[in-house]
Order: sequence, then structure tokens, then C-alpha cells
Amino acid sequence: CNDSQSSLSVNCLDRHVHTAPNKVALIWEKDEPGKEVRVTYRELLELTCRLGNTLKRQGVKRGDRVTIYMPPCPLAVASMLACARIGAVHTVVFAGFSSEALADRIRDGKRLLQTDRGGKVIELKQTVDQAVRACPLVKRVLVSMRTEQKVPMSELHEMMKEDVCCEPAVMESEDLLFLLYTSGSTGKPKGLVHSQAGYLLYTAITHKYVFDYHDGDIFGCVADIGWITGHSYVVYGPLCNGGTTVLFESTPVYPNPVERLRINQFYGAPTAIRLLLRYGDEWVKRYDRSSLKTLGSVGEPINTEAWEWYFNVVGDARCPVVDTWWQTETGGICISPRPSSPGDEILPGMAMRPFFGISPALLDDKGNILTQNNVSGALCISQAWPGMARTIYNDHKRFLETYLMPYPGFFFTGDGAYRTSQGYYQLTGRLDDVINVSGHRLGTAELEDIVHRAVAESAVIGFPHEIKGEGAYVFIVLKKGTDVSQERLSNELKELVSKKIHGGSPFPTRLPKTRSGKIMRRVLKKIVEDKADELGDLTTLDDHEAVEEIIEGHKRLL
Ligand code: PRX
Repeated sequence: CNDSQSSLSVNCLDRHVHTAPNKVALIWEKDEPGKEVRVTYRELLELTCRLGNTLKRQGVKRGDRVTIYMPPCPLAVASMLACARIGAVHTVVFAGFSSEALADRIRDGKRLLQTDRGGKVIELKQTVDQAVRACPLVKRVLVSMRTEQKVPMSELHEMMKEDVCCEPAVMESEDLLFLLYTSGSTGKPKGLVHSQAGYLLYTAITHKYVFDYHDGDIFGCVADIGWITGHSYVVYGPLCNGGTTVLFESTPVYPNPVERLRINQFYGAPTAIRLLLRYGDEWVKRYDRSSLKTLGSVGEPINTEAWEWYFNVVGDARCPVVDTWWQTETGGICISPRPSSPGDEILPGMAMRPFFGISPALLDDKGNILTQNNVSGALCISQAWPGMARTIYNDHKRFLETYLMPYPGFFFTGDGAYRTSQGYYQLTGRLDDVINVSGHRLGTAELEDIVHRAVAESAVIGFPHEIKGEGAYVFIVLKKGTDVSQERLSNELKELVSKKIHGGSPFPTRLPKTRSGKIMRRVLKKIVEDKADELGDLTTLDDHEAVEEIIEGHKRLL
């Protein structure tokens, strides 16, 4: 390799196999509690090489795209690393997504191949078959059996017969490593592109310093590998550091994996913390949590009550809580308290300090930089950093328009933030039409698009939800002459958007719009928050009766 070349799979595997081949790389906490599987670095390297050879045998070449549609399991991690080993680009699609969402993500590329596993309770294979029917460019589907259940097969691979050596491809630092799809405020989800060296460096260094990870620690991040948190802090960061990382097949609402696996750093979303909080202190205290050293929070704001409970009850007031702010776009943690700098104060519910090399800036509506403290503004980053996404796959123009053009000279995050009088950062929420349900990003436009097929018009807004942080609230105008019960339509729509829609008021006949025809979401939001007396400036509102009707409908729902 020259200076600009590297092999990511060598950094995550071979390097550690040379020094500690029998060290555990992965602990797979299966859906059946207590049946965890441990995979050493040597075993993970062998599995990765076998898969790499399988992919090559199936014709996958450097630069080809491979879609991985599997829940967290060693084979899924090995599939990601196998792509990296042969220079292919992986796209992991969250295994909870529908066939249509899967097909959308597959179609965005050209040459591809699918990996999948036979379903347990959820029949993943059927979803894949449906998706693939809509994607004629897919060349192969590889299926791995997770259970004994009979699954209709189109292709079964005999991977275990492959050689355990697979020469790693030498990659340029800016070559593509993976695409990951995420919701934006408009249009279809965008495939953010992450590249090799910068991404790996950034995930490894943030993993080490933010969580104060030391050799021998057991790192437990509960994110699914289908999200960026899973990519960066279940797979790449911990493995590059030669760590032991836990793969949770399902979300652990039980604290017993901490006791059983002796987890040292626990990293999860506030939604899970708020859910646990409801069960009461006794229930958590029943388990031994003495192994815990750092507690992490990610994906959505953590309210003070949840933060205090996490710190005082889960961590016995001795483990620093790191509220980490970052995004699919940033590749790794950008703002967070750093426990590895002992003595740094940590305040509740705040991401606080930029990580090394990150220079945040707050800008006002006119694009002026706010230099003083005690101000709120649009959160931007003023210099490039190693982990940042390089582009949107097949759409660089959209990348520029979304992130670099709103505030020229800055990377715009889409979030708002407050800088306290002490200079700490506190996130205040999205500034665009993106809502955050249980730490998962949903574009309102995307939801409206799904709903629209069944109805004349719709508007989706977020509303505060006690457990999930935010819920999606959908306003629907029915097509003329539609004769269907509210309950039935509501059930059908809920199914359509995979249970992401909450409740539903009686259908209004129209939505409040400006004279130029733009739906006034701000007004809908106030109504849903029971603040109909604070609707603000309505001078541009076209039809006041539309608002009255919706207020009445909402009251009836309550
Ligand atoms: O709005 C911010 C919120 O989640 C968005 C990023 O979502 P995604 O790309 O799916 O990545 C989630 C995991 C990194 C951000 O724009 N967000 C993320 N972390 C925090 C947060 N909001 C408040 N506090 C956080 N710690």
C-alpha cells in the first residue's frame, strides 16, 4: 500500500488476528436470551474470507453494489467486511423495511446482488422475493438459514466449502465503502456515500475517546446494523480498535445482558431508556450493573428526567453519561461530552462539546454567524472532517443543495442548536420537515407519499410523544365519494406505513393552505399540541374554515 491506500478489512480483522487470534470479536445476543454466540477474530476473518470468495465466485467485482438485508448476526457483519475485502460497496437495509422500501434502495444502483436470511417470525425471504421482482438488474440472491423453518429458496449458497484465504483488495482512501439510505425533507430517501480511510479513522477514534474504550472492554451498542449507529459503533469503530462488540438481535428491554455479558459501555436510544424507566428502579437494580463504565445516548434528545434516571439508577451515579449528537451524514459522533478527559464536567441532556477536529457554528436565518454565547441558530460545521459523507449516490447536485448551499461555506446539519452561556451545545430539534420517532428519521414527504395512494391529500407532522420522543400525526382528506369507515382506512394506512402513524382525527374535507397552495404544517402542529390559541400569523392563510374544521375534529378525538 502507498500512503493513500489501505484495506479496511485488514484493519478490522487481520491486524488483530496476528496479535490475539482467539480474542472475542463479536458476542451475538440472540433473540433467544441466554443463548449468546461468541465469535473470535480468527473465526470472523475466516467467515469474511469465505464470504468474500463466495461473492467473487458469484461475479461480484470491485465497485459493485451488494445489498444486505439481514438482522444483526455474525454473518451480516462478515458480509459487510467481505464486501470491504473485495472492494465491493455494501448497502445494508434495515430488516424491518418492506419489500417496496427494499426495492427502492436496490434500484438506485446498477449491478447488484442480494444477501438475505430465512426468517424466523418475520419472513424476510418473502419480502426479498417481492422486492427482487421489481428489480430486474439483481443478478443473485444469497440466502442464509437462521432457523429450521422451511423457506422458499431461489438460491442457496454453499459458502462453507470456500477457501478461508481471500486476498484483501487494496483500496484508495476515497473509494466508496458503503451507501446508507436516510430520509430527507423531500423526495425519496438519499443514499449517503461513505468512503474508506476517513470513515474508519473517525469511527475508531470517536469510539475510543467518547466511550473511553480500553482493551478488554465489552462494548454493547443496541442499534441495528441497518442504521448508521450500527455501522459505526457495532461494527467498524469497535473492530478497528480490536474490541469485543455485542450484536443485539432484538432490542434488549431487559437489563440482564449487562449482567450476563459484563458489558462495560452501554449505548442506546433515549426511547429505550424512557421505556425502562416506566418499569421502576427495583426492576433494574435486581441485576448486577457493576461492569458498567460509560453510558451512551444517541439518535434523539434525551430529556432531563430520562438522563437523571440513566445516570443515577442505571449507572449508580458513577458512570458518565455521554449524550452523543451526530447523523448518518457525519459518519461518527461530532458533539459529545468526553469521559476520557477526566474532570470535564457533564451536564444533563446536553451533547456539550465538539469532538476533536469538529468546528460547529450557529447561523441565523440570514446566514450571519452568531459568535456570542447564549444564542440559538442553525447548526452548521465549518470545516470538513474525516468521517463526513462524500456525496449522495447518483445525485451529487442534491448533496450540494441539501448540505452545502443553504449556508455557503458551511455544512448544514438540518438541526437547530442552542449554545449555552458556558459555550456548550444543546440540540433543539430538526429545522426541516424531518421527524424523529424513537431515534429513527422519517421524512414527512415520504410518509405523505405512501398515504397519498389511498387518499386525496395528506399532511404529516411530528408531535411530542412521551416514550418515542416524537410521533407522526397524519391529516387526511378523502377522495370525493369515498365510502369507507375511519377505522378500516386508519388500519390500512397504518399497515402501509409500517405502524408509524399514530391515531387519526376524523377526516377533514381540506387542509389549511397559504394562498400559493402550501400546506401550513405549523398550524397543524399547534392544533395537535393543543395550542390552537397560539396559531400565530395567519395572514397568508387561504381558508379560515379549514382551520376551524380541523380544530373541531381534533377536539372530538380527545
Ligand atoms: O436530529 C438529529 C437527531 O438525529 C438526526 C440524525 O439521524 P440519523 O441520521 O438517523 O442518525 C441517528 C444516529 C446518529 C440528527 O440530525 N439526533 C441524533 N443524535 C441526537 C439527535 N438529537 C438530539 N440529541 C442527540 N444526541
